[in-house]
Amino acid sequence: MKKIGIIGIGYIGLVIVLGLVDFGNQVICLDIDDEKIEQLRKGISPIKEKDIDELLRRNIEKNRIKFTKDIQELISNSEIIFICVNTPPKEDGSVDLSQVISVSESLAKNLKDKKIIAIKSTIPIGTLEKINQIFENYGKKKNQDFEIAFIPEFLREGNAVYDFYNPSRIVIGAENPETIEELKKLFSPLNAPFIITSPNAAILIKYASNAFLAMRISFINEIANIAERFGIDIQEVIEGMKYDKRIGKDYLQPGIGFGGPCLGKDLMGLIKMAEKQGYQPNLLISILEKNEHQIRQIIYKIKSFLGEFLDGQIIRVLGLTFKPDTNDVRNSLALRITKVLKNDGAKIKASDPLGMEEAKKEINDVEYCDNPYDVAQDSNCLVILTGWKEFKELDFLKIKRVMKAPIIIDGVNLLDPQIIKNMGFIYKGVGRQ
Ligand SMILES: NC(=O)c1ccc[n+]([C@@H]2O[C@H](COP(=O)([O-])OP(=O)(O)OC[C@H]3O[C@@H](n4cnc5c(N)ncnc54)[C@H](O)[C@@H]3O)[C@@H](O)[C@H]2O)c1
Repeated sequence: MKKIGIIGIGYIGLVIVLGLVDFGNQVICLDIDDEKIEQLRKGISPIKEKDIDELLRRNIEKNRIKFTKDIQELISNSEIIFICVNTPPKEDGSVDLSQVISVSESLAKNLKDKKIIAIKSTIPIGTLEKINQIFENYGKKKNQDFEIAFIPEFLREGNAVYDFYNPSRIVIGAENPETIEELKKLFSPLNAPFIITSPNAAILIKYASNAFLAMRISFINEIANIAERFGIDIQEVIEGMKYDKRIGKDYLQPGIGFGGPCLGKDLMGLIKMAEKQGYQPNLLISILEKNEHQIRQIIYKIKSFLGEFLDGQIIRVLGLTFKPDTNDVRNSLALRITKVLKNDGAKIKASDPLGMEEAKKEINDVEYCDNPYDVAQDSNCLVILTGWKEFKELDFLKIKRVMKAPIIIDGVNLLDPQIIKNMGFIYKGVGRQ
């Protein structure tokens, strides 16, 4: 049993809190968002993820998680302190480190005896040196007063709890052998290989992994667009590719592009990091460009049916989150496309199983509807932007009866084109007719 402090109880922080408590550790948490902490104290999770409510409720009821606003209390009750605050993109695409820097300042100021500082936030190369400098500015000595490790997080939203318990690998970027042993012990209940690297290699592993996943998505979108022009069904092509072990099946689903809080931001962060070193990473740049191109494709498709000007067109949107099984709409392309349609004059009604509350904070002049059948009412076109299984299970004959024109643009290839067309719909997917 270890005494663990966790700073930043957001998406990643909360999952790590619950996982480490579940392994029998004593965990104390700190977040600057008082409202979030109040909700958590009541057992209410701000993120919607499979199994999270139950895990949170169980641990709150048993009084296993301590919350504090006092950094000194957190420090004195921790042997290992995790930093899980956000590192959002700045306007120019580089990484905003202000949350990490602010937390490092208050740790450095208040540290009294030796701690391991484990960074989970995705940070660019060069940040660890900055953090070391902050500690040294407060008279704290590396090895003697503090040790810093970078442990990248690879969990996927929508599968966050499952991924915490079933990681493909645990990368520990650290120099001190004792620190490495402590961190290995902490994560030893997980059945995954440990990859021990230099801290900066661990940082590059995180960025390279996300860039690679983004590349797969942009790649298959490119092939889908080619398939579409030849009248070939991309899903048949994927079926024939994925059995090749060198290729595999993951992140090979065509759609509207990659969104969400990580892939785009991390790809941009990596590009900026390379450019700062005087290197132009053309492949990475083209992955981003392809993503922007893919977003435009779906707008073109809608306009190919409804005309260039969407003024007064009744368009209905299914899906607002950046992927299914989460309520996260950060950098959601579904939301971005909805905004474009709205700004082009379309009358929008939208539905999403979990994301509407968050979406309302981003776009408030759209009508939100719990019932997808009400969404379809009187519409000229139904656009599917997130691959929720709840949408796949809808009664599309019932939907067709209430639509003005039976047009479905399926941005995520959720539906079976043949079945949908047999119902009398005009259907367009991505890379399929
Ligand atoms: N979300 C993911 O799927 C994912 C996956 C892998 C890695 N990451 C990385 O993990 C990090 C966190 O991402 P997230 O999605 O959990 O972010 P988040 O915005 O959900 O959570 C960050 C939390 O930190 C809190 N915070 C901010 N400043 C603080 C401070 N000074 N003191 C205490 N708390 C503070 C915020 O209130 C918030 O609750 C990012 O660097 C991200 O790139 C995220």
